[in-house]
Amino acid sequence: MNRRESDRASGQAAAISASPAPTRERKVTMGTRNVAVIVGSLRKESLNRKMANALIRLAPAELALKIVEIGALPLFNQDNEANPTPAVTEFKEAIAKSDAVLFVTPEYNRSMPGVLKNAIDVGSRPYGKSAWTGRPGAIVSVATGAIGGFGANHHLRQALVFVNVPTMPQPEAYISNAANLFGADGSITVDSTREFMMKFLAAFAQWIGRNASS
Ligand code: FNR
Repeated sequence: MNRRESDRASGQAAAISASPAPTRERKVTMGTRNVAVIVGSLRKESLNRKMANALIRLAPAELALKIVEIGALPLFNQDNEANPTPAVTEFKEAIAKSDAVLFVTPEYNRSMPGVLKNAIDVGSRPYGKSAWTGRPGAIVSVATGAIGGFGANHHLRQALVFVNVPTMPQPEAYISNAANLFGADGSITVDSTREFMMKFLAAFAQWIGRNASS
């Protein structure tokens, strides 16, 4: 039974990697990297927020993960580009100060939630002043269903191509059946998923080392 069959058969949260983490030899710069974590759900008991907090605790020493909130951002309106609200300015500054971005998102109606797309749009404007440009990225999608947020994950990848966020291709993280994935203390209770997420973060550290602009 391969990993995918095993995850499905167990009914546990599945973490799918179609191929091993990148092993291509290139120099990886070791200093601490500041990673802005964007959570695509605004609800208090969000499983994606729990995953983001679990990742903060599991991250290797060279990655400093911090959630950058998107809930106070206004709906994007191009008329207001020249006069951003403080929430927009703070958000763009937080992204601009980070070395990389990690998106942790649910799937809404087979796509990314509107609040997440709004944050991407807000951060990308005005033209020529995008906060995203060149920051390496990665995506984790977490869902209560069996498909692990595949649709959200890939629609998000499509937008990240346009805003020039080089997004880690492998390993992919589609975390399914997540309703019972977290313990009372917020930790990931399924060993295979926790181990997979640690490998994912280690691969992301390498990806940042290869793709960061400095
Ligand atoms: C969902 N959910 C969902 N799940 C899924 O796997 N595919 C989908 O297309 C959708 N669509 C959807 C739309 C809307 C509006 C809601 C509220 C929910 C279920 C979703 O995976 C589940 O509610 C997660 O728990 C949401 O993530 P958070 O809020 O727990 O992080």
